[in-house]
Amino acid sequence: MNRLFRKKPIEQLLLETQGDASLKKTLGALDLTMLGIGAIIGTGIFVLTGIAAAKYAGPGLVLSFIISGIACAFAALVYAEFASSIPVAGSAYTFSYVSLGEFMAWIIGWDLMLEYLLAASTVAIGWSGYFQMLLNGFGIYLPAWASAAVGSAPGAILNLPAVLIALLITTLLSLGVKEAARFNNTIVFIKLAVIVLFIIVAVGYVKPENWTPFLPFGFKGVMSGAAIVFFAYIGFDAVSTAAEECINPARDMPRGIIASLAICTVLYIIVSLILTGIVPYTELNVAAPVAFALHYIQQDWAAGIISVGAMGGITTVLLVMLYGQTRVFFAMSRDGLLPKIFSRVHPKYKTPFLSTWITGITVAIIAGITPINTVAELVNIGTLSAFVFVSIGVIVLRKTQPNLPRSFRVPWVPWVPIIAAVFCFVLMLELPLITWIRFVAWLVIGLLIYFGYGISHSELGKSNK
Ligand code: ALA
Repeated sequence: MNRLFRKKPIEQLLLETQGDASLKKTLGALDLTMLGIGAIIGTGIFVLTGIAAAKYAGPGLVLSFIISGIACAFAALVYAEFASSIPVAGSAYTFSYVSLGEFMAWIIGWDLMLEYLLAASTVAIGWSGYFQMLLNGFGIYLPAWASAAVGSAPGAILNLPAVLIALLITTLLSLGVKEAARFNNTIVFIKLAVIVLFIIVAVGYVKPENWTPFLPFGFKGVMSGAAIVFFAYIGFDAVSTAAEECINPARDMPRGIIASLAICTVLYIIVSLILTGIVPYTELNVAAPVAFALHYIQQDWAAGIISVGAMGGITTVLLVMLYGQTRVFFAMSRDGLLPKIFSRVHPKYKTPFLSTWITGITVAIIAGITPINTVAELVNIGTLSAFVFVSIGVIVLRKTQPNLPRSFRVPWVPWVPIIAAVFCFVLMLELPLITWIRFVAWLVIGLLIYFGYGISHSELGKSNK
């Protein structure tokens, strides 16, 4: 029993990040905000808004965004505290290893796999939608079999563009693209620019009658919509993974996390209002709704520009998600909970080469054969559950390590973390039963692996002996 609750000592963790192997501390609040926006704005706003409006929320989609945004704001405070108290790469997994013990750490690491691995697949599918929209603009159409996952369109078998973009990004990552981070700022700028362009071009075409009925599926629909568009906010937590590289994490980490979330929330609210204002919500269930909406109001030129911008923007999200997954694998494998192959570094490229390819190929296969909402819902349930556990972890760590230096402290503990946990759990409850069944199946597989492998291979267990 004790084995399940063994905790990694914080001192050991901090030691691991010092010395020659430590990362350079160069990031300030603005860099962190850019990093956040780079990871946040992607398939959620560009693609899932359409599905959420057409199937769940109707024009009330804007309320879905507000509700989901509030849940994320509470979770963001929690993430800011742990990122400033345990500034070590590895995200929620590492955090729970010191606060909740090995077993919960495993569960959260396993949940994060849903977050990063499947978000990468979701994002690749979203990219494919805009890519095909752009091709169509030039009169080029992919054969039906290669255009979407089997079952999601007549004659469709494989979402070929989604597979190819996933493999392309995997290639870049496996060869080590430090430079990628430098491009991030450019891409963030483009992303923001195309969203602003959309707002400017489209706002004049809003017809308020499209907003009635405002809640065609009632408040229930708004909540289900919130559980879907939650996807659009995922990524602010990725900022916390850069804590080790932050000049003044105490001050800048919470600023970066909260600023990136706030900017995206405002943009999402405006975009969802305009989108449902220019196109009847019933028509929005398409692969590239923002571009579709611009075609709808006959602004084809803007649709083209936005498709290109969206593809660029979505690509960085894919990069961050794939990268995040390989780093979580890395941490789990270094701790002995996963086989060593996941922390083996390539002698020449200095990247976890094999692990990156295993991850990338898995992402590509899933992206090729799964409909987007199926994967997105799984991502959301996995991420929300990780948020719930991390919120609890913050309360636990306050009790067990009251003197740990925390440069940022969540106000009103335990209430804020409790509200964060409850909010996220309520959103989880809004997801369909089938998603819950898949989620539970995923957890069961995770438990089998932990008890069959992790518990006996754990480095912490070995050192305790
Ligand atoms: N929030 C990210 C996106 O919407 C994952 O693509």
